[in-house]
Amino acid sequence: MRTIVAGNWKMNTDRQGAADLVNGVLKGLAGLDTAVEVVLAPPFPFLAATVEQVRGTRVVVAAQNCHEAAHGAYTGEVSVPMLKSIGVGACIVGHSERRQYFGETDAVIARKIDALLEHGLTPIFCCGEVKAEREAGRHEHVVTTQLDGALGHLSADRLARVVIAYEPVWAIGTGLTATPQQAQDMHAHIRAWLQQRDIASVPVLYGGSCKPDNAAGLFGLPDIHGGLIGGAALDAGSFVELVRLATEAEH
Ligand code: 13P
Repeated sequence: MRTIVAGNWKMNTDRQGAADLVNGVLKGLAGLDTAVEVVLAPPFPFLAATVEQVRGTRVVVAAQNCHEAAHGAYTGEVSVPMLKSIGVGACIVGHSERRQYFGETDAVIARKIDALLEHGLTPIFCCGEVKAEREAGRHEHVVTTQLDGALGHLSADRLARVVIAYEPVWAIGTGLTATPQQAQDMHAHIRAWLQQRDIASVPVLYGGSCKPDNAAGLFGLPDIHGGLIGGAALDAGSFVELVRLATEAEH
């Protein structure tokens, strides 16, 4: 299975900070013998410069969001063809922060995924339950509903080109990580959902306070194939260390 470590910078850095962070990551990766796929998702204004900086390396640049339409009167939005035209290769969709603060539903996310696949970009689809849903024992049901709603309409060919990230919302930016058992159980649940559709090749990443001091215990689990990293991706040393740990855990 492919293993992926992706850094979601969220709304952080500025032009110089982004350039320095990319430089630091590239320097660190140069000393690493790894087949792990590395993805960097800076904010929109720094995407084009990041694409230039990583040219000639295996690093893929991802956007953090996109609009479903190719062009038109959608003030403030960014389309998939625009991203493609500057060399962006992937896009995070359905992040819980977009669901929570911007009202994104699985129906909207499904259309964004269609647009990305149409233009050959890799959707990194995020799913995950909030704390109350886990406490009520509904977490697997919630994630199944998200998978059905955003990915259920895809043909097997198209589904095989998606990357899934399980991010329990209660673990994002909180310092609380899912225990290895909680993470493995949900990843196995997602894997079973994929298997029902005869898909074996889609990596399922873990996200939520994933850091060098807890990553080894997560990346080594049978159904986890890398991570979607927030806070720890803002430090080049931590991020490269996560790539190293994922390399050691590759399976
Ligand atoms: P943290 O690693 O900061 O918890 O963020 C995870 C995340 O939301 C990545 O998309």
